[in-house]
Amino acid sequence: MTSTLIRGGLVVTAAEETHADVLVDHGRVVALFARDTGTDLTPSADRVIDATGKYVIPGGVDAHTHMEMPFGGTYASDTFETGTRAAAWGGTTTIVDFAIQGVGKSLREGLDAWHAKADGRCAVDYGFHMILADVNDRTLKEMDTLVEEGVTSFKLFMAYPGVFYSDDGKILRAMQRAAVNGGLIMMHAENGIAIDVLVEQALAAGKTDPRYHGEVRKALLEAEATHRAIQLSRVAGSPLYVVHVSATEAVEELARARDLGLNVFGETCPQYLFLSTDNLAEPDFEGAKYVCSTPLRPVEHQAALWRGLRTNDLSVVSTDHCPFCFTGQKDLGRGDFSRIPNGLPGVENRMDLLHQAVVDGHITRRRWIELACATPARMFGLHPRKGTIAPGADADIVVYDPRTEQVISAETHHMNVDYSAYEGRRITGRVETVLSRGELVIEGREFVGRAGHGQYQPRGTCQYLL
Ligand code: URP
Ligand code: ZN
Ligand code: ZN
Ligand code: ZN
Repeated sequence: MTSTLIRGGLVVTAAEETHADVLVDHGRVVALFARDTGTDLTPSADRVIDATGKYVIPGGVDAHTHMEMPFGGTYASDTFETGTRAAAWGGTTTIVDFAIQGVGKSLREGLDAWHAKADGRCAVDYGFHMILADVNDRTLKEMDTLVEEGVTSFKLFMAYPGVFYSDDGKILRAMQRAAVNGGLIMMHAENGIAIDVLVEQALAAGKTDPRYHGEVRKALLEAEATHRAIQLSRVAGSPLYVVHVSATEAVEELARARDLGLNVFGETCPQYLFLSTDNLAEPDFEGAKYVCSTPLRPVEHQAALWRGLRTNDLSVVSTDHCPFCFTGQKDLGRGDFSRIPNGLPGVENRMDLLHQAVVDGHITRRRWIELACATPARMFGLHPRKGTIAPGADADIVVYDPRTEQVISAETHHMNVDYSAYEGRRITGRVETVLSRGELVIEGREFVGRAGHGQYQPRGTCQYLL
């Protein structure tokens, strides 16, 4: 094992910023040597990385990805191999992906299938949440086993009737179980029953373009479902994590719950912070590139999301990376927006977009790391291995150049998808070097990692509860 010294950078964690040299050995952080003390205590190492003028930050933790996810008759276009490589390029060293229970199938079968997709293929570390698509007595029992094994979070859907949808009774039962076994319920909060009526009415009226996806999936129906999920979790006594929050009215529901001191947490994603219904309205079916659920909102909603990120009514930024190619996949919904596969690419862009938010003054540097690394690690039981740079932590470290400018483009990105949702966007800052458990994955803007380096991470229970 090669020891590494990362020298001369500004170490930024959620807790502090210090000019320090970081010593790594046997895949872990051994020590930080503060450089403002006047004495040079820094030891030597097999390899020295010069980080002068750069930030030294924890590798990103993206707690919401869907590699190879089946949806609407096709599959998300990134495999675990291509998707985790792209993650590394973007400074993310851990993903938590969603294994899916098939209807009529056990959780075990779903989990085994996702292990088979990921095993030996990942460039960086990964864990799994479990999507509950069929809540029944057997499912509830299996939840306990999964928590013990390190799959400690469960996604439920109030949307997508006939696919992943659970009714309120099923949701309540899963929450009651989580209240006992320590699992964290993650909620896709949209009133899917009402939305399906509006979809049918829109299509019958000849409204088939992608922009109608945004019109029928109303902010009020996100807020209503968020409110209902919160009340159900209170009745059950379980914590709740609401995924991909996009509407002002939903943030207000979260804020109200959090003001009561409830264990209710919110996640948002870069697409809701940087994109809007203007993108969904792009002509010539280009709007399909921006179809995801919850949908992009009118640009006014962004201010509420940024505020939520500052007040901690929103605690995590994940990507919900779920890419579908424009040609051949998004195409499936020409003439019927409801057939456009839902999801956006972004696993490679999150750290950069959030750094741009620091540059633009929306959040502080430490908040960037808190939202993208530290809190997701704590929320999903990966702390203290992931999400920080401290003695004993995994040496998942990014050397980030805060000054180099880049332009995001499908021409240069590494995700396996034929467009970028952020095409042409200028970013100040760029990932320079990435270590995963002490091994170089990105070095001098080259991928030097390998499929199979990434290891499965069994997770503990939520460490973020009040
Ligand atoms: O549109 C999205 N978000 N696709 C992925 C599935 C989900 O609901 O998270
Ligand atoms: Zn050694
Ligand atoms: Zn969802
Ligand atoms: Zn998702």
